[in-house]
Amino acid sequence: MLEVSTVLVTGANRGLGFEFVRQLASAEPRIDHIIAACRNPEEADNLKSLVEKNDNVHILKLDVVDYDSHEAFVTEVDKIVGDKGLDILINNAGIMIITDVDKVTPKEFMKNYEINAVGPYMLTRSLAPLIKKSQRKLIVAISSGAGSITRTNARLGGFPAYKASKAAMNMLTRTYGDHLKADGVTSIIFCPGWCKTDLGGPNAMYEPDFSVSNMIKNISTLTPESDGTFINFEGKPMPF
Ligand SMILES: NC(=O)c1ccc[n+]([C@@H]2O[C@H](COP(=O)([O-])OP(=O)(O)OC[C@H]3O[C@@H](n4cnc5c(N)ncnc54)[C@H](OP(=O)(O)O)[C@@H]3O)[C@@H](O)[C@H]2O)c1
Repeated sequence: MLEVSTVLVTGANRGLGFEFVRQLASAEPRIDHIIAACRNPEEADNLKSLVEKNDNVHILKLDVVDYDSHEAFVTEVDKIVGDKGLDILINNAGIMIITDVDKVTPKEFMKNYEINAVGPYMLTRSLAPLIKKSQRKLIVAISSGAGSITRTNARLGGFPAYKASKAAMNMLTRTYGDHLKADGVTSIIFCPGWCKTDLGGPNAMYEPDFSVSNMIKNISTLTPESDGTFINFEGKPMPF
């Protein structure tokens, strides 16, 4: 049972991000505010339908790499959460550039790295004051087993830009998490499993609702001792 007041999900208009918001919107006990951050709120019809039925869902515009907009975004989040602060930040937004090891370009490396690693880092830093003032103080990175250096092998495919960006996301989540540890903040890294979304494709192994309900179950059991760990959606340890 997830007993929190406020949650923010990035990349919330589709895929796993939308599924997080959908499930959290009707969670028991009720979560006071779920902030669904997405790049184009005006086109987020599924989120708009959710808001019509759930007055605890709020849609805010956010591109994680539009750094100049972060300050105004944090002000909007602050207005919604107030004294409760931000209990859980879910850094979910991400892209996967699929390019063969022989063909990948520097631009592809940089784009994947910026959106999957630098953007979440900068956003987390901007939101840190709100996280620190909350009760739960939890940062969740939706990473990938593809970012595991230990498990790198041909079966996991080429796409070096994506793999490196997720390894970097893991490192930056831990790096900033270490920095926030003294304030009682817990940071955790998930591999959601291979899921049927636009990114995962139709042949993936898991439905988004299965992966997300398992991740929410695991989030509810996290303790400060979980800080810095990399686990899969079932809570099993993943190697870095
Ligand atoms: N699905 C899988 O099998 C799988 C496996 C391992 C890890 N993951 C990770 O899980 C997360 C969610 O993936 P998904 O499968 O749900 O992918 P998805 O269906 O492609 O959705 C990606 C989401 O990220 C958003 N996004 C992309 N760039 C952004 C930016 N610059 N700023 C803000 N939002 C941005 C997209 O927004 P727009 O609609 O505006 O593009 C979209 O909402 C990703 O981090 C992914 O790497 C997924």
